[in-house]
Amino acid sequence: MRIIKIFDTTLRDGEQAPGCTMNVKEKVELARQLEALGVDVIEAGFAISSEKDFEAVSEVSKVIQKATVVSLCRLVKEDIDRSFEALKDAAHPRLHLFIATSDIHLEYKLQMTREQVLQAVKEQVAYAKTLCDDVEFSAEDASRSDRTFLTTVYQAAVESGATVINIPDTVGYATPQEMYELVSEIKQAIHNEAVTISVHCHNDLGLAVACTLASVKAGATQVECTVNGIGERAGNAALEEIVMGLDTRAEYFQGKTHINTKQIYRTSKLLSTITGIAIPPNKPIVGANAFSHESGIHQHGVMRNANTYEIMSSSQIGIPQNKMVLGKHSGKHAFQERLLTLGYLLSDHDLQKAFESFKKLCDKKKNVTDKDIEALVSENATTMQKAYEYISFVINSGNTITSTANVKLLVGEEEIEKVAVGDGPVDACFRAINKIVKKEIHLENYTIQSVTDGVDALGEVVVKVRSKHGMITGRGLSTDIIEASIKAYLNAINKI
Ligand code: KIV
Ligand code: ZN
Repeated sequence: MRIIKIFDTTLRDGEQAPGCTMNVKEKVELARQLEALGVDVIEAGFAISSEKDFEAVSEVSKVIQKATVVSLCRLVKEDIDRSFEALKDAAHPRLHLFIATSDIHLEYKLQMTREQVLQAVKEQVAYAKTLCDDVEFSAEDASRSDRTFLTTVYQAAVESGATVINIPDTVGYATPQEMYELVSEIKQAIHNEAVTISVHCHNDLGLAVACTLASVKAGATQVECTVNGIGERAGNAALEEIVMGLDTRAEYFQGKTHINTKQIYRTSKLLSTITGIAIPPNKPIVGANAFSHESGIHQHGVMRNANTYEIMSSSQIGIPQNKMVLGKHSGKHAFQERLLTLGYLLSDHDLQKAFESFKKLCDKKKNVTDKDIEALVSENATTMQKAYEYISFVINSGNTITSTANVKLLVGEEEIEKVAVGDGPVDACFRAINKIVKKEIHLENYTIQSVTDGVDALGEVVVKVRSKHGMITGRGLSTDIIEASIKAYLNAINKI
């Protein structure tokens, strides 16, 4: 079996998706989870693009031990230098150089001739190689490029020192058969076992995963993808779908990955928590309906033998079971044991915080399930140092009166209380908070969903607020939806 390397670009290409901006702390948190998932390569950012991207690449480089950490660069010396500087603490650094090769990009975007592009590839790949042994080269819009020119460019990149050749379907235009042929052709032309052939497919026609898997069949041994398929426009190929495709059809693909599939669900959920982008229920592998059977005939079949309608099991993906696991009388030891079973090894400080949240939840909720515990732990994981802490709230609301809220916050050492009226109790609470915080904050989006079933379910609120620092996502959990809303709003404000 070949090893198919998973190159995760959630922190770079994924973050380019609207509404998916992550701060440095969130990127580091996600990078740690990606390492636990077992990805081979983490593209942490595009170091020259902003100070924050530089910081993210540099912070991720400091904490990641096993995976290769990558920074993207154009074929420009300053880009390469900046990336290399950001990667200086990485155990396994990689420089990822790219330039477009299709005529349409050359004419309208780069305004360069083919000869100029070829020359830049030779010069800059060779320069990158003097800094870093691991150099990847991508020909942007490869699938719409002239084949002869594309092959010449890849050969030049290899001769100049690139050890990974990436073939992007940048605009999601190719069909799986075309990607199969393209990869076969390039592989044959390069004809060098020491060079890794990689693919990078976008999902504009909903074919990204199919194109990626067809490329693996054709001989690609690195696949570029993102968690939940987030990315530019319709997104990138979804990591979890590729991995489970390879896992479920290992014989067919003659390949396996280093991924610990039991970490897939957690990784998907963490990303959704950080970005506030909900996972659609019908999303393959990680969607809420991916393993539920509604029709009687299906249920009957699954009860007799799960293989009748299930080609993989939810436990393989690490989806927690929604049954009662702990309660009011469970001690810290039992809680810690449960966390370990779920795969969480928390520091003493984080364990204490999670246990306190668990105890508070037990006072409100009779049956605490694995899903609740997952939600509590991920809430604590994304909690920032708090400038504003919520103490209490009182609301007065109804369909015949104007909603009023009284919110009390701890600001440093001081308790501040404000009253506001609003269009409903949530709006009134947010207005009261705005009076305390005194910042220009606009609520752009508000969603609420329940973590589990039942009348005492935890409600999860995600808000997106706009401030002068851009769009920020906040998240709050509680069995009381007004409290969850306040927590989400304050979480976003604390991030600002
Ligand atoms: O889609 C693309 O072509 C890219 C390259 C930079 C690899 O993201
Ligand atoms: Zn891309």
